[in-house]
Amino acid sequence: MKRRDFLSGLAVTSAAMAAGQSANTTEKANSQNTPAAPQAGGKKNVIICARNGINYIEAGYERLVKGADTLDAAITVVSGPENDPNDDSVGLGGLPNEECVVELDSCCMHGPTRRAGSVGGVHDIKNVAALAKTVMEHTGHVMLAGEGASKFGLLMGFPKENLLTENSRKIWQLWKEANSNQDWWGPNMNDPDWKPPTALQADADVEDQPQYVQRLYAMAENIGIAPDRRMDAIHKVLNPPTGTINCSVLNEKGEMSSVTTTSGLAWKIPGRLGDSPIIGAGCYCDQDVGAAGATGNGEENIKVAGAHTIVENMRKGMSPEEAGMDALKRIARNYNNDMAKIKFISMVYYILRKDGAYTSVSMWSGAQEHPITFAVHDGAKRMEKCKPLYQGAASSWPPMPKVPRNRPWN
Ligand code: GLY
Repeated sequence: MKRRDFLSGLAVTSAAMAAGQSANTTEKANSQNTPAAPQAGGKKNVIICARNGINYIEAGYERLVKGADTLDAAITVVSGPENDPNDDSVGLGGLPNEECVVELDSCCMHGPTRRAGSVGGVHDIKNVAALAKTVMEHTGHVMLAGEGASKFGLLMGFPKENLLTENSRKIWQLWKEANSNQDWWGPNMNDPDWKPPTALQADADVEDQPQYVQRLYAMAENIGIAPDRRMDAIHKVLNPPTGTINCSVLNEKGEMSSVTTTSGLAWKIPGRLGDSPIIGAGCYCDQDVGAAGATGNGEENIKVAGAHTIVENMRKGMSPEEAGMDALKRIARNYNNDMAKIKFISMVYYILRKDGAYTSVSMWSGAQEHPITFAVHDGAKRMEKCKPLYQGAASSWPPMPKVPRNRPWN
């Protein structure tokens, strides 16, 4: 394997981040996104969502301006990635659990009626955001999980589908064959005795990388993973993604809703629920205040009830940015602000206040050439940069060279 094969398309590792360097978050007035042109009564149509919603936010906005309910508009946006087999973090094509089964989570809150619905660990149904809404509308419950949730969905007419794509299955096979001892069994960063892994050298030849990276590369070739997807697959094996989409919507009447949907953490232990189906963690909406949602390490977000914390912070008068930064700092506080651990945590919050002010805050700014962004539509569709707590990119676990993702938002 030649150096150029290994490094082609790779940039300098994100692991070379400025750990511990906090971004300037004091310019509240300047940095706060505010509604550009408030309409009558200060109300306007606004949609914000995670960056993988950029290709679908227009469809949600069109529905919204035609008078669709805010939750329906939000579900229009998130069903885009749910239906997209190439988005391996949500719905169809999501990366599977350790037994190669795709397991989906979602929750939603409807501001006008102050209702909520949630499903967790769903198999064979790709549109789990709509399924969460169905739980909300057609049961006296808020949350259904596992087999019961899947059966409920089929009874309610959701089509049964195989959610595993060949691309996701091959990446799972690479993970399985690698027989990683860095999976989700055993203690992790929560263990006081946990030691950070040794960083890889970003610019070294593949021959100079640890044996397991060389082995993974050869295995990926054997499995038939295409050369341009090989390093991305290795990255996912070593650093299981937690990609997700959250979408919050405000309409001209001041009504709000929010929804989050995900395939959860790749290679998770079957039955693991992340933050996405947890109302108050992955998503929260209070018609009187605003909405918030999350993507990133679900376990960390559950421990700070992130979305609820942010909405409650805004209720007490914090700006969206202050409210989100406080939640991020609570996550850091859970690790005694130990940067050796925080550098492995990726977390993004999407925040929309009931007056249309919005922002997105992230634990890390992302690599310089690919800052973390989110999507907005308030009459004009655009991507905006998230406000970071720390400068740099969250490290892979273990750290390794960054790889091209070939995704629409890059
Ligand atoms: N935030 C998605 C997950 O951890 O499952």
